[in-house]
Amino acid sequence: MTDVLAARDLARHYTVGGGLFGKAAVLKALDGVSFTLAARRTLAVVGESGSGKSTLARLVTLIEPPTEGGLFINGTDAIDPSRRTQKALRRTVQMVFQDPYGSLNPRKKVGAILEEPVVINTDLPRAERQDKALAMMAKVGLRREFYDRYPHMFSGGQRQRIALARALMLNPDILVADEPVSALDVSVQAQVLNMMMDLQEEFSLAYVFISHDLSVVRHIANEVLVLYLGRPVEQGPKQRLFDNPLHPYTRGLLASTPSVNPKQHSQRSLIKGEMPSPLKPPSGCAFHSRCPHATDLCSRDRPKLRPLDGRTVACHHAERIG
Ligand SMILES: Nc1ncnc2c1ncn2[C@@H]1O[C@H](COP(=O)(O)OP(=O)(O)O)[C@@H](O)[C@H]1O
Ligand code: SF4
Ligand SMILES: [Mg+2]
Repeated sequence: MTDVLAARDLARHYTVGGGLFGKAAVLKALDGVSFTLAARRTLAVVGESGSGKSTLARLVTLIEPPTEGGLFINGTDAIDPSRRTQKALRRTVQMVFQDPYGSLNPRKKVGAILEEPVVINTDLPRAERQDKALAMMAKVGLRREFYDRYPHMFSGGQRQRIALARALMLNPDILVADEPVSALDVSVQAQVLNMMMDLQEEFSLAYVFISHDLSVVRHIANEVLVLYLGRPVEQGPKQRLFDNPLHPYTRGLLASTPSVNPKQHSQRSLIKGEMPSPLKPPSGCAFHSRCPHATDLCSRDRPKLRPLDGRTVACHHAERIG
């Protein structure tokens, strides 16, 4: 299996403040993220709000460059390539956003929305563009007559189908979906997830699937990457992490999703308190201010990501906790 996507030590830091009031500070939105992804596989990226998930999505889709690290798409270096390479790579990675109401142009009809990327990127004649759009609409379960309708006439679930169809119009290899079902009713979530899994199979897509909700990633993920304050804390095959999470943060996330694993639901593993400010992350292990297992060592030394029991984990006491 060749990797369609490889990230090496990706980081994105922002300089914030530094105006008239106060001095500038560096906010590490993402730090030290590495993974590989093959066709037909799904990497789920999970973590609370502010953990860096959308920042990772913007790096992978080449919306913004990383501050550090490497990114390879189909083996091609995606950082600072020539304009031509960059344009070709952008077609290869497409994105679907969370908000099904804000992400579609309200003044365009469905047909025009789907065909826009084809108009911009190819010379395909009008009739063929239309055929392609209608064929894609059928794949995502939208009726032909919707071609001439405006987005406001559709429900949230149907709008996400339109967004998915548009993302697939240029035959990408990678789809980055940032909380694609989080705004939908639970009953509709399952339909959209099932459809995404069918599309993945049919088009051999690799997915980077972002969600704060572990019950959502449970079915679709192959690998899981757990982020806390921009850093990976645990990463590996889904089954390993769901069956026996080794990082207290992963345990806490699972415990607050009782539908996933009732066994993990114990008071001790619930995450207490608020996420610290990313501008002033705690010393040592950034999770120590909320961790029920923290020791002096934890506030002093930052644990490195290390292999343990079929995954990698960044915790001094992972052996004891697992
Ligand atoms: N352009 C930016 N400038 C400054 N800080 C940013 C910027 N984008 C994101 N951040 C910060 O980076 C952190 C991670 O944000 P984000 O990637 O949106 O997290 P998530 O998607 O997991 O909620 C947050 O603290 C956020 O405020
Ligand atoms: S290193 Fe310490 S504070 Fe961090 S997660 Fe592990 S036990 Fe908790
Ligand atoms: Mg986000």
